[in-house]
Amino acid sequence: TEYETILVEQRGRVGWITLNRPQALNALNGQVADEVTAAAVAFDEDDGVGAIVVTGSEKAFAAGADIKEMEGMSASDMFATDHFGAWNDFAGVRTPVIAAVSGFALGGGCELAMMCDIILAADTAKFGQPEINLGVIPGMGGTQRLIRAIGYYKAAELILSGRMMGAEEAERAGLVSRVVPASDLLDEATKLAETIASKGLPSLYAAKASLDTAMETTLAAGLIHEKKAFAALFDTEDQKEGMAAFREKREPNFTHR
Ligand code: HXC
Repeated sequence: TEYETILVEQRGRVGWITLNRPQALNALNGQVADEVTAAAVAFDEDDGVGAIVVTGSEKAFAAGADIKEMEGMSASDMFATDHFGAWNDFAGVRTPVIAAVSGFALGGGCELAMMCDIILAADTAKFGQPEINLGVIPGMGGTQRLIRAIGYYKAAELILSGRMMGAEEAERAGLVSRVVPASDLLDEATKLAETIASKGLPSLYAAKASLDTAMETTLAAGLIHEKKAFAALFDTEDQKEGMAAFREKREPNFTHR
């Protein structure tokens, strides 16, 4: 497939999606949404891929939804085109997705990072929801996912003031799982993605689905989901192989079935 706004590459079992609109600090227009989603869905459908990394440039992961594209739109345009709809399919991939964030992750950029399962940050990363400065509010999940990630009061401060927070603050808040020197970001993302991708796919899919469920439901309903997902894995080849490998004191050879 030919993409114009992203670079796509598979290295081993890891699929890489690099946002590539440097002239606009990787602002997310409709084409970027369609291309990132198509690339992620294609990786998701490929048994040869066990983890996806989404990254940007040194200066910007993504500086938000494309303001120039949105500026002239009306409310009915927004509803009629479901302007941010493609991102739902991105958020719905079964494969674990890592956001490797360097520089600005603002507005839709922060929201894209939060659609991923893990956020690794360079020490240069800056997160924020500055939409309030534009007379609007987050529109790709920011008001919902940021609260679940960092709690009501800190999310409220960021969304109401529009201020940015640095990587260390984002890690303390629980948005970022780890801060690394900017020069190590891609190596660290590679290591983490390779570790994840070496596991069995059925268990990765089940783990991600259970984590997603936890974000959306009560403890009781989530525990029922987990119990069923856990039981279902006992019909997979990978469960037999994983447990046999433990007993035989060797590395498992997962077949992703
Ligand atoms: C379109 C953008 C853009 C964006 C940057 N650019 N962000 N274009 N949409 N979100 C463009 C600039 O216009 C400029 O192009 C080029 O990228 C470089 O940006 P500069 O501003 O010159 O860079 P710098 O001075 O380093 O400042 C970096 C920055 C600033 C602090 C990140 O660009 C900025 O504040 N950007 C907007 C951040 C933002 O508000 N994001 C939220 C968007 S709304 P030209 O051609 O002029 O040189 C959103 C919510 C979606 O995401 C839901 C709403 C309904």
